[in-house]
Amino acid sequence: MSHRTGSGLAAVSTALLAMSRQMEVRDVLKTIVASARELLDAEYAALGVPDDHGGFAQFVVDGVSDAQWKAIGPLPRQHGVLAAMLHKAEPERLADVREDPRFGGWPDAHPELSDFLGLPVRDGDETLGALFLANKRCARPEGGGCGFTAEDEELLGILAQHAAIALTNARLYERSRELTIAEERSRLAHELHDAVSQKLFSLRLTAQAAAALVDRDPARAKGELQQVAALAAEAADELRAAVVELRPAALDEDGLVHTLRTQIQVLDRAHSAAVVFDSPGIRALPAAQEEAVLRVAQEALHNALRHAEAARVAVTLARHGQGARLTVADDGRGFDPATVRSAGRHLGLVSMRDRAAGVGGALTVTSAPGEGTTIEMEVPGG
Ligand SMILES: Nc1ncnc2c1ncn2[C@@H]1O[C@H](COP(=O)(O)OP(=O)(O)OP(=O)(O)O)[C@@H](O)[C@H]1O
Ligand SMILES: [Mg+2]
Repeated sequence: MSHRTGSGLAAVSTALLAMSRQMEVRDVLKTIVASARELLDAEYAALGVPDDHGGFAQFVVDGVSDAQWKAIGPLPRQHGVLAAMLHKAEPERLADVREDPRFGGWPDAHPELSDFLGLPVRDGDETLGALFLANKRCARPEGGGCGFTAEDEELLGILAQHAAIALTNARLYERSRELTIAEERSRLAHELHDAVSQKLFSLRLTAQAAAALVDRDPARAKGELQQVAALAAEAADELRAAVVELRPAALDEDGLVHTLRTQIQVLDRAHSAAVVFDSPGIRALPAAQEEAVLRVAQEALHNALRHAEAARVAVTLARHGQGARLTVADDGRGFDPATVRSAGRHLGLVSMRDRAAGVGGALTVTSAPGEGTTIEMEVPGG
């Protein structure tokens, strides 16, 4: 590598930096191929990432014009010398690829390759792809390459190792981005469940009440219908808030205690169960924790009123160290928390746990058939 010290080393370093800066797999591949071609002074360079079906998931070339590339036709399959590169750990350095016994010809528009250097790109035992170079440039008047040297092979080996790292990183990055999108989708599902489906449930009840009253007591039916309109407007607001991840507007305007108290008064009036609220010693909490507490209280109340057939539901928001403890206790029929499957249609309990965990808090569900249910949530404050 003697003649490469100095400016050669700088070129290698530039290539490696360019590789590590790319995040998208395809950009990483392009950078690798272009760097390899430039560093080894070859006419053509390519990198193939195999798929599981005998073809290439990706095949990136450098030194071939777009028009030429199109004329060549479909991507190569894994055969001949290309396939050999993918199945062995050793580099291949050939004076003339066309004379190799594995050579199987190429399409008409394919450029003529003579001298050839190929190397697998490996991460441990896994072959991520293979790097190919052809036609080392030189001042030979009759054309064709001058042949790659042992030094070229060594240099390409270093590039291939870094290419493996860059490729693995890029894959991890793409994977993590997919995960973020999935998380976002599940957040939205929970948000819609917590806010909107509860409002719609109340809306249905109120509409039914209006329908039952319309003949007997038109004035009260009118009142219920106004309530329907108000609930529908709230549901629409909640929907918008869920989509843009806004806090419930009432929290900013009135604070957690006031918001909870108002909502509980409404529920107390709307249901046969007595719903009561107390907030001993409570102080303001960080915004995210207030929102989480409100959402958990809403779902716990909703469950108590829908599933428990309770006579009484008591909500307490009490100071607890720097933070707060929310308790929603009903005297209803209870259930066995272990039998509730977290997957599938029941989102409420899962969503409450997620919300608590999301703000560094904890959620406890205490229930047994015939013994009522208590939901407890602690948040750290701060
Ligand atoms: N307070 C409670 N009293 C009695 N049973 C309850 C109570 N809370 C929850 N459950 C039981 O636990 C199950 C799961 O509750 P969860 O909130 O996860 O789902 P859900 O209320 O059925 O549906 P979702 O909340 O997704 O609309 C309920 O279906 C119900 O059987
Ligand atoms: Mg529920």
